[in-house]
Amino acid sequence: MTETPTAAATDRALLEVRDLRRSFQVRRAGGLFGRPATLHAVDGVSFDLRPGRTLGLVGESGCGKTTTARLVLGVLSPTGGRVEFEGQPVPAPGTAAWRALRRRMQMVFQDPLGALDRRISVGHQVMEPLAIHGIAAGAARRSRALELLDAVGLGASFFQRYPHELSGGQRQRIVLARALILEPSLLVCDEPISALDVSIQAQVINLLLDLQARFDLAYLFISHDLKVVRQISHEVAVMYLGRIVEQGDPDRLLVDPAHPYTQALVSAIPVAAAARRRPRLILKGDPPNPVDRPGGCAFHPRCPAATARCAIDTPRLKPLPDGRLVACHVAHGEAEGPRLAA
Ligand SMILES: Nc1ncnc2c1ncn2[C@@H]1O[C@H](COP(=O)(O)OP(=O)(O)OP(=O)(O)O)[C@@H](O)[C@H]1O
Ligand SMILES: [Mg+2]
Repeated sequence: MTETPTAAATDRALLEVRDLRRSFQVRRAGGLFGRPATLHAVDGVSFDLRPGRTLGLVGESGCGKTTTARLVLGVLSPTGGRVEFEGQPVPAPGTAAWRALRRRMQMVFQDPLGALDRRISVGHQVMEPLAIHGIAAGAARRSRALELLDAVGLGASFFQRYPHELSGGQRQRIVLARALILEPSLLVCDEPISALDVSIQAQVINLLLDLQARFDLAYLFISHDLKVVRQISHEVAVMYLGRIVEQGDPDRLLVDPAHPYTQALVSAIPVAAAARRRPRLILKGDPPNPVDRPGGCAFHPRCPAATARCAIDTPRLKPLPDGRLVACHVAHGEAEGPRLAA
């Protein structure tokens, strides 16, 4: 089983996601009497993440970001496609192989208080993963926990404190210390700063950047906040109804978005009117119900640039000349037929 690492092996993506799919059987509106339907929460998502890098995942509520995170972590089984982490397929949830792998991929969620046990002191919670995995003992565990508290900017005095005595930002630092004590190579962060005050958000972002450089961590970073995503990500993927519609360099993508959906998201970022480069787009209609995914390009009913082709032919995610990936007939100059928008 042991392989000598080769150049090719070390060049490999840490995380390889290919054509990942997850559907749920649900009932249409109508409660118990609603007709059964299939909801495609994640519908053919592919990406690579290299060690020490960040992929930002953005998109409206319900587009499949958390489902993608759960599939990556293996807490949810895919209905199609695959996830490989450190060159191995992610094993079935709950198995010994999965628990061993989970040491190397940790998660941070929006609500730090929900992730912590109010009855247990901070120090013991930070050390707990070492006990669960039978790593080190007694004094060694304690000194490792103190090192991690220091790494997240909290002094030794926090060791004896309890979660309810801390601020939201301090709690999220504890969650980070606890996640990092097992020396993971991937941190999946699902809206990790959304619940924090704006002033604290910047501190936690800086801490995440610092920890990434120090521990060579890769992040899958999910957020509604495009400005934050731009700050922290090496690459950004924009999701719409379970699929990636645009992916590439954050500066290029967020300054000059190619997909009409990304354009709408970017134009919705609050900026001073004078600094706005393009008029604000107002998206027509609500995000569609994923149970009734529109045919063709799923965005076409809300798209100001949609043509007849967009209503019938689903665009593939493929590169533009500048290298970013876009799934849009219009962006690729391949739109056909009359414009649908009034
Ligand atoms: N266990 C489940 N059973 C049925 N439907 C589900 C389940 N989990 C998720 N979904 C549906 O899948 C879609 C994607 O959900 P997901 O939680 O991944 O969205 P999200 O992008 O994380 O949204 P948000 O920004 O609100 O967190 C939604 O329509 C959701 O209702
Ligand atoms: Mg979510």
